[in-house]
Amino acid sequence: MILVTGATGFVGRHIVAELVAAGYRVRALVRPGSPQQQVLAGQPVEMVPGDVRDPESLAAAARGCRAVIHLVAIRREWRDRTFEAITARGAEHAVAAARAAGVERFVLMSALGVTENPVTGYMKAKLRAERAVQASGLPHVIFRASFIVGPGGFVEEYGQLIRRAPVIPIPGSGRYPVQPVAVRDVAVAFRRALEVPAADQIYDLAGPDRVSFAEFVGAIAQAMGVRKPMLRVPLAVMRPAAALLQRLTPNPPATLDELTMLAAGNVGDPGPMIRDLGLTLTPLAAAVREAVDELRAAGRLGG
Ligand SMILES: NC(=O)c1ccc[n+]([C@@H]2O[C@H](COP(=O)([O-])OP(=O)(O)OC[C@H]3O[C@@H](n4cnc5c(N)ncnc54)[C@H](OP(=O)(O)O)[C@@H]3O)[C@@H](O)[C@H]2O)c1
Repeated sequence: MILVTGATGFVGRHIVAELVAAGYRVRALVRPGSPQQQVLAGQPVEMVPGDVRDPESLAAAARGCRAVIHLVAIRREWRDRTFEAITARGAEHAVAAARAAGVERFVLMSALGVTENPVTGYMKAKLRAERAVQASGLPHVIFRASFIVGPGGFVEEYGQLIRRAPVIPIPGSGRYPVQPVAVRDVAVAFRRALEVPAADQIYDLAGPDRVSFAEFVGAIAQAMGVRKPMLRVPLAVMRPAAALLQRLTPNPPATLDELTMLAAGNVGDPGPMIRDLGLTLTPLAAAVREAVDELRAAGRLGG
């Protein structure tokens, strides 16, 4: 049995589908009242109620499991949903539960850009999660993911913006390097991480193509068949707006942390992961096209 936390999320549902297709028995930790519970309905997945802020629920969920895949994290803080409580302490609770259950492997979703001295709250929490896993003594694999391309997440959010806005807004110069990875490749990587001999590795989970942020957004617009001019919005203008809006709404167009992380670039070396896990990575253009087609077919990119 494999416990997956964050199974109802954009990435989690693809990992669950990959595990189920490969014949694994999957248990999903599901927040009571999760708005996304229905995404797992109809799949042969055992759903157990729980919250990463509740160590008891994690301990019960991990009992009898061979491995834990921990995906839960938040991208933005809102009120008591803090990086500290959910991303950092949530991971620490998951590790403690995995240890108590005596699992054979722990696989953690981290993020590209984690360094020894992170400057954003998001990255600080990811670093704490990584440290908890590394200090656990559990055989583990940590993935530091880049932008993940699929029917959800960034492509859906920016796709909606591209469709609605008269121009395509680009933060700053737009020249920041990114290396997005297809969600299907992410799912295969997580499955293989359960299957290879444990080596306590940290892998960059990045795609095969390194492009600028503006080129990435351009690829989404092209796949959507949208031709609009790009408008570069100086970071000096965006930062104060982000600082204000993130206090007023849980879903601002961007947060200060996100602008900082974007400007720092988001690239890595997928070579060790390709070698050790035997992956073939999907080219960016194909991944974006497939994501846009799936979103369109599901009516999630509007008319
Ligand atoms: N998407 C990307 O481009 C990207 C890039 C790099 C790294 N990552 C990492 O990949 C992981 C998954 O990201 P995602 O895009 O799939 O995020 P997502 O769609 O927001 O999914 C988050 C998942 O976490 C669950 N969750 C949130 N708070 C919880 C809590 N307190 N207790 C239990 N479950 C809780 C959510 O459950 P509900 O259904 O109840 O909300 C959902 O299943 C995260 O660690 C993220 O940092 C993502």
